[in-house]
Amino acid sequence: MKRVAIITASDSGYRGQREDLSGPAAREIVEKAGYEVVSMDILPDDQVMLAGKLQEIADTGKAELILTTGGTGFSERDITPEATEEVIERKVPGIPEAIRAYSMTITKRAMLSRGTAGIRGKTLIVNLPGSPKAVKECLEYIIDALGHGIEILTGEASDCARK
Ligand code: MTE
Repeated sequence: MKRVAIITASDSGYRGQREDLSGPAAREIVEKAGYEVVSMDILPDDQVMLAGKLQEIADTGKAELILTTGGTGFSERDITPEATEEVIERKVPGIPEAIRAYSMTITKRAMLSRGTAGIRGKTLIVNLPGSPKAVKECLEYIIDALGHGIEILTGEASDCARK
């Protein structure tokens, strides 16, 4: 079974001032797709803490997929893409391209999400925007393709030819 770690980046969520609805929204979708959720963390918009958590999950092999939600916009504290870029070894530009292309059919504000994606070791890291609505829209759109990518990454699948 594929394992996923979910990280919510939110100062107010971390301080307990706002209920995190985005992490649970992601959880519902991945569970329906057959993933085991191994951890759910709420972290502040802090590059050191976010990068540290991403690195720890990837390097200990706890999950094949890490989904982050939040911190992809323009506010001064939004730093999730930078934390992700700090730890990834290989970029996967097609994932944020797909997220934004699809999301632009829903709202032009999708162009304001700076989310990225990449691979560290055998873990794929994908940034999603922060609202539960955006999480649902983006994740439902990419989840099937992510599964195939993870199978190739972990050696479970080797052939894209017939897909
Ligand atoms: N993508 C989808 N699919 N649906 C949305 O509602 N909201 C956008 C964008 N991407 C949105 C979306 C908005 S309004 C912003 S500001 C950015 O994501 C960044 O969100 P974040 O700072 O919460 O990560």
